[in-house]
Amino acid sequence: MEKKINLFLVGTGNVGKSLIELIAHNYMYQIAGKKFRIRIIGIANRSKMYFSRKGINTSEWKSLLTKGENANVELFIQTMKRYKLPNSVLVDCTDGDVISRYYKIILKTFSIVTSNKSSNSASYKNYSAIRKAIKKYGTNFCYSANVGVGLPSIDIINSFLSGGDRVRSIEGLFSSTMNYLLDKLITTGKPFSRLLMEAKEKGLTEPDPRNDLNGIDTARKILILARESGAKIEMSDIKIENLVPVILRNIKSLDKFYESIKIADVKFDKIRKIAIKNNRKLVYSARFKNNKASVGIEMVDSEHPFYSASANEKVVLFYTEFFKHHPLVIKGQSGGAKATASVLISDILKTV
Ligand SMILES: NC(=O)c1ccc[n+]([C@@H]2O[C@H](COP(=O)([O-])OP(=O)(O)OC[C@H]3O[C@@H](n4cnc5c(N)ncnc54)[C@H](OP(=O)(O)O)[C@@H]3O)[C@@H](O)[C@H]2O)c1
Repeated sequence: MEKKINLFLVGTGNVGKSLIELIAHNYMYQIAGKKFRIRIIGIANRSKMYFSRKGINTSEWKSLLTKGENANVELFIQTMKRYKLPNSVLVDCTDGDVISRYYKIILKTFSIVTSNKSSNSASYKNYSAIRKAIKKYGTNFCYSANVGVGLPSIDIINSFLSGGDRVRSIEGLFSSTMNYLLDKLITTGKPFSRLLMEAKEKGLTEPDPRNDLNGIDTARKILILARESGAKIEMSDIKIENLVPVILRNIKSLDKFYESIKIADVKFDKIRKIAIKNNRKLVYSARFKNNKASVGIEMVDSEHPFYSASANEKVVLFYTEFFKHHPLVIKGQSGGAKATASVLISDILKTV
């Protein structure tokens, strides 16, 4: 028997678009002998929203959305409720916290699947309230794409805990951009400012690279893994090494920032020389242990699992009661909108 899953998708950027493409190409999914058909019933971006009770034609979604009504989050949720379709799931592919502020309300009736880290990295009070809502209303909240897309880091923590194990510490390489820059710093000897420009030209950085350099995204990821392991930890508890020089932090213009970042070249050249002299590799890592977390530049020797990681690989190490002396290491090429969409599909299927 075919089971229909009814999606209400908010956010049609890189990830949202890739998700629509995946659904369009593989609209039947099969797990454990059951067939699932995923239909998109509602779709929204910042300005517009569009609904079709029978399912939106995925080859026309862009033009249909353009003709839709003005976007309004509350109206979007009300429409979901009014349709009363079984197996309705809200998929949040937005980049801010506007939608996640409504999660508690949405979870009273619907499951949520999200690639957006806002909810899980907001206050611990909010994190805990979301878990209480899921328990109370029997809905699901799936967010495997929050950390190390495609690497099953969140799932592994859950499997440790359900098997009676306890996470003692976590180490991770989560930022491809930072690790590309630090890898090239060692291997090419080029100035940091030039490497940053090259990474930008190759499309490896965020549109504003300060969002890579400030370490906040890496900090959010270790925060989420720490919380999944049971730690009551806040973002403000994490020590973050911000690679944007202090005197450049108030610059608004991006062009001015690119001109000024040259002042960081001397510092990075010093770090580079120390790493080479000591036969170390430079990484931008995240660490969690004893309820404390930090993110920043680290020099690792050839014994460390980070040493052999290439710039486009993510790595997560778990030390637990059972993996006490030799960590469980998950490593692999990860990230990108398509891989994220695939993880979202897997989460969507989990909700039913
Ligand atoms: N890209 C990746 O590889 C990746 C990997 C893992 C996780 N993520 C996470 O997934 C999320 C989406 O990433 P992305 O790369 O697709 O971002 P993106 O390209 O910037 O797209 C964001 C989308 O969200 C929409 N949006 C933002 N605020 C909204 C609101 N209040 N109401 C309705 N729509 C809203 C935007 O609308 P407009 O189109 O109208 O601007 C846009 O369509 C982010 O949270 C990101 O951190 C991304």
